[in-house]
Amino acid sequence: MNAQAHIGVTGLAVMGRNLARNFARHGYTVAVHNRTAARTRSLVEEFGDEGTFVPAKTAREFVDALQRPRRLMIMVQAGVATDAVLDEFALLLEPGDMIIDGGNAHFADTRRREAALQERGIHFVGAGISGGEEGALNGPSIMPGGSKESYAVLGPMFETISAHVDGEPCSTHIGSDGAGHFVKMVHNGIEYADMQLIAEAYDLLRQVAQYSPAEIAGIFRTWNKGRLNSYLIEITAEVLSHTDAGTGRPFADVIADAAGEKGTGRLTVQTALDLGSPVTAIAQATFARAASSQPALRAAYRPLPGGTPIPLTRSEAERFTAQVEQALYASKVIAYDQGFKMIQDAALAYRWDIDFGAVAGIWRGGCIIRAAFLDRIRTAHAADPHLVSLLAEPAFAQEITAAQVPWREVVATTARRGVPTPAFTAALSYYDTLRAERLPAALIQGQRDYFGAHTYQRTDKEGSFHTHWARPD
Ligand code: NAP
Ligand code: ATR
Repeated sequence: MNAQAHIGVTGLAVMGRNLARNFARHGYTVAVHNRTAARTRSLVEEFGDEGTFVPAKTAREFVDALQRPRRLMIMVQAGVATDAVLDEFALLLEPGDMIIDGGNAHFADTRRREAALQERGIHFVGAGISGGEEGALNGPSIMPGGSKESYAVLGPMFETISAHVDGEPCSTHIGSDGAGHFVKMVHNGIEYADMQLIAEAYDLLRQVAQYSPAEIAGIFRTWNKGRLNSYLIEITAEVLSHTDAGTGRPFADVIADAAGEKGTGRLTVQTALDLGSPVTAIAQATFARAASSQPALRAAYRPLPGGTPIPLTRSEAERFTAQVEQALYASKVIAYDQGFKMIQDAALAYRWDIDFGAVAGIWRGGCIIRAAFLDRIRTAHAADPHLVSLLAEPAFAQEITAAQVPWREVVATTARRGVPTPAFTAALSYYDTLRAERLPAALIQGQRDYFGAHTYQRTDKEGSFHTHWARPD
């Protein structure tokens, strides 16, 4: 077989087949392979006229079809499937070849795989790919890790097939080894927080302002024209304006209120605990999904008293809606800020040289959290590569300052009315924690010293101190 293909894709389920088509539509010759050969055949039969595909039945045929250095993309389930495919292909490759894992691997697995393949001179590139089925075909956001040398070769290809915003590609080299998969994981964590915050805003407009789902869809459409402009707000309006064909009821009312999860939010929170990164809004969003899916627990709490529903007048409801917009925006800034801080913490821990502005830049298109305000996050991080928080940037600080009174009003209202807003509340608490002059952490240090002689530091002199609590100093 002629070694003619620019790139090969193995694993031709939803994502793999669409990425292969995306490469082919952009003029690349694409070798295609799948464990079950029927998928390879159906891809070429259905879409063969979109570009040049080289179907391969065996791993050997597949590898032989690739130009050197070989570029081989794996799009299979994360975990054991990825290891099985790697074991099969790595033996057939030579130094200088590149394997791209575009699945949702755990970044620690990617670090392990990269180290093992590096010993054999093979570049292993863990690439986070976001945008689902549609993005894979028409332009995803691509977050590749691995070596700089591999990005020099792969970058132009990724940048060609990725989404573009203002003419700029949504792909950049994130950092070495597992940095790409790490950033993809945090993207999903932020996605959880964003979805939860939007859901809480909806719940408040429904339960407190007593708007119908169709009216709330209209409010979201208006918000989508402003600073909250984003894919998630856009699709929320679509879901809320949808009527269930079978019952004629609002679709939002016929969906069971138990949120599922496949684990990427959970993984973000687990990793944040290891790093000591306080991603409280992301954590609350993840726990909110878990709590919603506990029917027995919910049944036990359901008879207990809550707040009093007080109907709002039309003008009160309009005023409340404006407050919810402020609370949603402020909480969203906090959630994104927590995500970026977590990436900064990981960059320090794993020695990744990450351009945080560039990360915000490639999230502006192709991915689920794409949003207008990511352009401002990009500008803020680009202006100061050591920016510790978005709230240290004057324009964001000004907006949050303006939002804080309505934000508090909304959170106070939720407490009075008994409407659950775990993510709004966590975001506001995080804001207050970080701006506090003094925290009760001092008392915790005192308690720790009392029961465990863990020592404490003082505000008035250097060093570590311990008090003999039986005879306090
Ligand atoms: P998937 O259902 O996760 O994976 C199915 C593919 O994996 C099939 O090609 C299957 O081959 C292959 N496979 C499974 N076990 C294998 C093994 N032991 N050896 C060889 N091949 C094996 O497909 P997907 O939804 O397209 O996702 C692919 C990857 O992209 C996953 O890691 C996923 O997490 C990630 N991802 C998915 C999305 C999304 O929206 N779906 C978005 C971004 C990233 P057979 O046909 O022979 O069974
Ligand atoms: P995207 O970045 O385009 O959202 P994604 O990270 O793969 O792509 O997530 C798309 C969907 O696939 C999500 O519903 C995700 O589930 P969670 O929201 O529970 O995380 C799901 N998904 C992600 N990885 C998966 C995996 N390994 N197996 C099954 N589903 C997965």
